Amino acid sequence: MRAAKIIGLGKYLPSRRLTNKDLEKIVDTSDEWITTRTGIKERRIAKEGESASMLAYKASQEALKRAGLTPDELDLIIVATITPDMNFPSTACFLQKHLKAVNASCFDLSAACAGFVYAAVTAWQYIASGLYDNILIVGSEVISSITDFKDRSTCVLFGDGAGAAVLTYSKTPGFISSDFGSDGFLSDILSVPGGGSQQPISQKVLDDRSHYIKMKGNELFRIAVRLMIQTAEISLKKAGLKTEDVSLFIPHQANKRIIDAVSKRLGIDSQKIFLNVDQYGNMSSASTAVALCEAWEKGMIKKDDIIVLDAFGGGLVWGSCVIKWT
Ligand code: COA
Repeated sequence: MRAAKIIGLGKYLPSRRLTNKDLEKIVDTSDEWITTRTGIKERRIAKEGESASMLAYKASQEALKRAGLTPDELDLIIVATITPDMNFPSTACFLQKHLKAVNASCFDLSAACAGFVYAAVTAWQYIASGLYDNILIVGSEVISSITDFKDRSTCVLFGDGAGAAVLTYSKTPGFISSDFGSDGFLSDILSVPGGGSQQPISQKVLDDRSHYIKMKGNELFRIAVRLMIQTAEISLKKAGLKTEDVSLFIPHQANKRIIDAVSKRLGIDSQKIFLNVDQYGNMSSASTAVALCEAWEKGMIKKDDIIVLDAFGGGLVWGSCVIKWT
């Protein structure tokens, strides 16, 4: 089995900012409520025409440049998204076209907010098996396209963005361990019920606003805390490491209170936790991708550091991985 490592990271955030104060004018909410319940201050919103593949394209260009690879050297492109450009073709195929990555195979991966972690581990396995050498993974979301700006319980939480990483084979790991889990029995806690094959778009779907995110936030909060702790513990145990060995913990950026509860229970020092939920809100699969990129840009990741990515999302799904930075 070959080892795999990340050799380039990139991100793209749309320029338009939607602050808590802006939201006060749209729904019955307050900056104080949003800040104390979630830690979010603002989020980015894509312009019309800025689809998931366009955001992914900009993040990928940066990641490829930093990796020192040209698009034609890519063997595989995986885009994790719940807001694809279209039901089909895949957003990964649109990204291939934008990049002119003529030699790449492409597919999308659906694991909601855990999508980037799932994509990273999937890419690692393709490299480990020897099937592919150079893989681009992207978490890209235009969550504003499935957000109901009449529903104060969800619209304050989400934002748009994209993060990308290039993986290749390596002499030393790289990726050390991972853990995934799913519970389809809890699918109704967080979903977009309308617009798929179960309830195709119709006037009723539009009237019910069921083509937008529906969430049981309170229930999800407790489950998310439990599962994020569980999966991080399993990945660390598989890697033969303890929480004190962790150099940087990069959790899914859904809510600062969830992150605080998870890191406290895991016993991770607050200095070692990466946070940007205040600036971007929850960008689903793009959250861990952008967080990893920003941590690297800020010089918070050094050679031989132990990085833990930890995420959960609609499905329910959850997953984590341990990376030794090489
Ligand atoms: N502004 C003001 N009040 C709001 C509000 C808003 N934006 N959204 C909800 N409220 C109200 C509710 O109506 C409720 O009022 P009531 O007591 O009169 O009924 C009150 O605030 C408390 O609601 P509750 O849902 O109990 O709040 P909470 O402390 O659980 O916080 C969340 C709500 C959504 C922030 C929190 O549950 C959460 O973050 N859950 C996880 C969400 C998540 O991670 N989703 C993505 C997963 S990938």
